[in-house]
Amino acid sequence: MFVTKTIEDVRARRWANPGQSWGLVPTMGTLHEGHLSLVRRARAENDRVGVSIFVNPIQFDRRADLDAYPRQLERDCALLEAEGVDLVWAPDETTVYPPGFQTYVTVEDVTKVLEGAARPGHFRGVTTVVAKLFNVFQPTRAYFGQKDAQQAAVIRQMARDLAFNLAIVVCPIVREPDGLAMSSRNLLLKPGERPAALVLKRALDAASAAWESGERDGERLRAIMRDVIAAEPLARLDYASAADPVTLAEIDGEANAALLSMAVFVGDVRLIDNTLLGAAQPE
Ligand code: PAJ
Repeated sequence: MFVTKTIEDVRARRWANPGQSWGLVPTMGTLHEGHLSLVRRARAENDRVGVSIFVNPIQFDRRADLDAYPRQLERDCALLEAEGVDLVWAPDETTVYPPGFQTYVTVEDVTKVLEGAARPGHFRGVTTVVAKLFNVFQPTRAYFGQKDAQQAAVIRQMARDLAFNLAIVVCPIVREPDGLAMSSRNLLLKPGERPAALVLKRALDAASAAWESGERDGERLRAIMRDVIAAEPLARLDYASAADPVTLAEIDGEANAALLSMAVFVGDVRLIDNTLLGAAQPE
């Protein structure tokens, strides 16, 4: 496994053998089984696999969040080596954002709701860095997690609008045995808060069960999720959404597919989770 900070090294390896297919897994490091599921999928589907590890400062809406973000490059590289990854790009900030940098990618409507409404500038930071990653690696396929459902929708939109010559692959959410969606933020939960964090999955399950019994009304699905969250004393709801899976517009009336998603504070930790109903599940 070759680890580098430079764009030139990535390009040289990428094009050493132009006939080979490349899978790219963009990450911010501190890898867990969720990230590794993307790496395994990329490994199975491509001749070569590249992983980027870069804590992207411009997608953090709060400085404290960026400073607190964990970094453990050596451990990450050991995990990636064991998965048979070929190339890791772990650039410095000035390589991604050289002095004088002033070009940003902005996706409009689909970034204005949900996480985009709660975290101004976040998706502009994500799409800008992902566009740069796509240009540096020029992968055949790029892998993202359904855990960040809106991020996946925004990147699909960007790739379509700007005609990036690659396939976007979205992989299912990996959960802890008790159902909590894996996230580096779970480590920030205090021991007493960990059981309360299961309320997100419980709320999604309650709304999914209603859907299975024939409930199709967006507002009633949202109300079911809100009620489950309200019953957990350590949890505070940021939003609960039942939206169109592509546009992310809230369902007004009935729909035959829905993305249920939510953001919930458990103590000081903001957690997100989601599930797709009636639509094609991510592969
Ligand atoms: P990061 O949070 O490190 O996540 C990297 C990828 O792993 C994302 O596509 C995310 O959706 C996926 N992922 C995280 N937890 C997962 C889980 N439990 N199950 C399945 N997939 C999971 O997302 C980012 O980094 C950044 O925004 C990035 C795209 C790298 C741009 O900076």
